[in-house]
Amino acid sequence: MAILITGGCGYIGSHTCIEMIKAGYDIVVIDNYYNSKPEALKRTRELAGKDFPFYECDIRDAEGLKKIFAAHNIEAVIHFAGLKAVGESVSKPLEYFDNNVGGTVTLCEVMRDCGCKRMIFSSSATVYGMKNPSPLNETMEIGGVTNPYGRTKWMVEQVLDDLCYSDPEWSAVKLRYFNPIGAHESGRIGEDPNGIPNNLMPYVSQVAVGKLQQLAVFGDDYDTHDGTGVRDFIHVVDLARGHVKAVAYALAHTGCEAINLGTGHGYSVLDLVKAFEKVNGVKVPYRIAPRREGDIAVCYSDPSKAAKLLGWEAELGLEDMCRDSWRWQSGNPKGYDA
Ligand code: NAD
Ligand code: UFG
Repeated sequence: MAILITGGCGYIGSHTCIEMIKAGYDIVVIDNYYNSKPEALKRTRELAGKDFPFYECDIRDAEGLKKIFAAHNIEAVIHFAGLKAVGESVSKPLEYFDNNVGGTVTLCEVMRDCGCKRMIFSSSATVYGMKNPSPLNETMEIGGVTNPYGRTKWMVEQVLDDLCYSDPEWSAVKLRYFNPIGAHESGRIGEDPNGIPNNLMPYVSQVAVGKLQQLAVFGDDYDTHDGTGVRDFIHVVDLARGHVKAVAYALAHTGCEAINLGTGHGYSVLDLVKAFEKVNGVKVPYRIAPRREGDIAVCYSDPSKAAKLLGWEAELGLEDMCRDSWRWQSGNPKGYDA
């Protein structure tokens, strides 16, 4: 019996492969390398201390998927594969709907045909939209998402709800991630964005390493303790461990559950910058810039459902996240290209 991990060479997927193997699972990994590199796979295998089958395969390739299901006894799928850049999704909506929604439907069809009906899906806190107040909990109505990327997450959540309703043998766990940052403590794997990063932590660490000059802090006039945006930053290794727990849950239960993966604590942009400077003894020059369109002031989770259903809670703090992000960035200034 094995767990199939789609998008397993990506940022969150690579860390999850390691935690799954540590927990004793056999894994099979697929990725089309759209946003990752073979070097990430190589290092993940080294850190896991165990080899595992890998296929360069697109989740939209039903025939390719069927061969993989025929070759392995897959009992559940952790589904990371997808496109994730909010800005790009506005200019390329069809690519996002095709990959994220169409790809997931194809994957679910193959799973159904092959008798594998358990999925852990990478959703996002973005499905809570702009209006729900933090702490965000899973009973809140979702929607009101302002960009195509977020809409694909919302749509896939609906697909999984309907699928589980149509067939009581299905089990789907929709994990709503807050803001994953940090890296494996070895500093060997981490987030390796293409071009100029959109997200805060990769930008901060690239400024610290001298690749970028200055951080632009998007807005200091929000209704928060220092005026800058507040987010629920979560260490990627904690997030990966949440997937291990979610697999165990999906193997033991049917039905569809949405579960937040966050710490329950909000830190501001400047809290993060200051923690990064202090923990790592580096400077992060910044300037205050106008607000970024589509941003909300505050977004953090109520993590109590994950504690109750999965027996999971985040263990690592903001300092761990800053330290591990820096170890990865400073040791690999060019990411996996070095
Ligand atoms: P990532 O881009 O590093 O990893 C995704 C992986 O999927 C990449 O290796 C990419 O090559 C692969 N992939 C993309 N399309 C594919 C396809 N059609 N077939 C096969 N492989 C494909 O992203 P990540 O940060 O690891 O995110 C993983 C998942 O979590 C994504 O679905 C993302 O939307 C979701 N998520 C991420 C965040 C975040 O902040 N990183 C937040 C919320 C949700
Ligand atoms: N920020 C800056 N400067 C930057 C980048 C970000 O000030 O250069 C600020 C943002 O304005 C925001 C905070 O840092 O206040 C966090 O921004 P990120 O882009 O790192 O993360 P977001 O909260 O905007 O979005 C993340 C993921 C999305 C996901 C969302 C769910 O990137 O994929 O969380 O809440 F949908």
